[in-house]
Parts: sequence; C-alpha cells; structure tokens
Amino acid sequence: MTEEKVCPICHGTGWVVKQTEKGPVARRCECFTEKQALILLQQARIPKRYENCTLDNYEIHHPSQGDALKIAKKFVKNYPAQEVGLLFIGPCGVGKTHLAVAVIRELIIKKGVYCMFYDFRELIRDIQNSYTPDSEVSETDILAPVFNSEVLVLDELGAKRPTAWVEETIFYIINYRYNQKRVTIFTSNYLDIEEEPDRREIYYKKGDETLVDRIGVRLRSRLYEMCKVVNIVGEDYRKVAKQASYRF
Ligand SMILES: Nc1ncnc2c1ncn2[C@@H]1O[C@H](COP(=O)(O)OP(=O)(O)O)[C@@H](O)[C@H]1O
Ligand SMILES: [Mg+2]
Ligand SMILES: [Zn+2]
Repeated sequence: MTEEKVCPICHGTGWVVKQTEKGPVARRCECFTEKQALILLQQARIPKRYENCTLDNYEIHHPSQGDALKIAKKFVKNYPAQEVGLLFIGPCGVGKTHLAVAVIRELIIKKGVYCMFYDFRELIRDIQNSYTPDSEVSETDILAPVFNSEVLVLDELGAKRPTAWVEETIFYIINYRYNQKRVTIFTSNYLDIEEEPDRREIYYKKGDETLVDRIGVRLRSRLYEMCKVVNIVGEDYRKVAKQASYRF
C-alpha cells in the first residue's frame, strides 16, 4: 500500500490561513476540493464505458450535435443558476449518454456538485429487488441518492415496458425532484413526434413507439416543464467515427 502524501500547503488540515490586516482568514486548500471531487466522482455511479467522456472529446458530425454541445456547456457554466434540466432525445449512438455523463463529470470536478448517474432500467430493477424479503438494501437506500443528489442523470428513459407501477414510481421520483427544484438530465431514444413533425419522415417508421407511448402523457408533460428538450440527430457514432470529424 502506498502511503498518502501529506499536502505541503495545508499539512493535511484542509485549510489555508492567510494573515490579513483584519486578522487571519481561512479558506479551503485546493487539496481538499480535489479530494472532495474524487469522492463525488466515485459515488456518482458513472459506468466504466463512459468514464472518459468529456465535453472536450465530444465530436460534431451533425449540426444538431454542435447545438447540443453548446447547450451542455452553457448548462455547466450556469449551474447552479440553472433551474431547468435537459432532455436529450435522439436515435442510438449519437452521444446522448456521452453528453449527459460529460455534464455531471464537469459539475463534479469544477463545481463540487453532488451528482448521480442511473440507468432507467437499472433503477427500476434495483427498486424492485429491494422488495424481496432477503434483500440487504431497502427501497429507501436506493431512493435516497436518487431523491437527494443535486443533479441526477436518468439514462434511457422509457427503455423498460411501462407498467402502471413503473409509471407511478418514476412519476413519484421525478415529481419529488421537481418540487425540490433539483435538476434532472434525461436521455431517451424515443422520439416525441408530436413535437417533431419534420423528423417524422426520417427517423420515425409507422408503428414505432414514441416517448408518450413509453412514459405516459402525465410524465411527458412534467418533463417538458422541468427540462429543455435537446434533439440530436445523426448516424450512430460507431459508423461515423472512422470519418474525419468536422465542425459546423
Ligand atoms: N459525437 C460523439 N463524439 C465522441 N464520441 C461519441 C459521440 N457520439 C457517441 N460517442 C461515443 O460512442 C459511444 C456510444 O455513444 P452513446 O453516448 O452511448 O450514444 P447514445 O446514448 O446516444 O445511444 C460512446 O462510447 C460515446 O462516447
Ligand atoms: Mg445512451
Ligand atoms: Zn492542502
């Protein structure tokens, strides 16, 4: 085991005291902020696959991705003076999860914000598992961070079949966050064709399910109150990655 080095600036106290005319003034040492950020980052449940996703390495292969990146950057810059969350909508592989992760990672590192990532299906499964008699975690254990994190990413909203129970539970969680003025970032592969008649032809095939089909009218309307909708279109990254990236 390597022994942790004691910070030469604060000698491990986490505080730096500066003498001023009005007497000593204490401020947090940089090592403290860095340590905090590291703990927050470890607790944020960011999936390993997305560990290296940043705003800087998000490539632009379609104008809508340029717009999305701008919105994501502005979100980070404005936070916490930022009451509405984000809802990234678009087909598979355009980088919705990448952007959502990049936003919370920057919030943690630059601003020390308590953030949490949850995949929608995993959240439902974790809650359901907590009900089994031999479960070691309670529903409250699962829900506390989901309720209380300052910024929550709920990835792949609607990815699970919407039973009445799922709809009720998710509405309850999201509504709680809404009432507490906590910000939530969503991603979804399901188009909202009512909002997007133009894209209907390209990305929507007759019979495809839409966002409303998957999350219900009530939740959709709440989402629109609490989020800025960011539509991203384009090819799956795995197909375009080999081509040179270009900027618009
Ligand atoms: N525009 C992009 N620039 C850089 N990497 C991207 C971009 N879009 C997708 N990726 C990468 O491709 C993979 C799939 O992207 P992902 O964010 O999961 O897409 P989505 O959530 O929209 O389905 C990830 O590893 C992600 O980092
Ligand atoms: Mg995704
Ligand atoms: Zn220090």
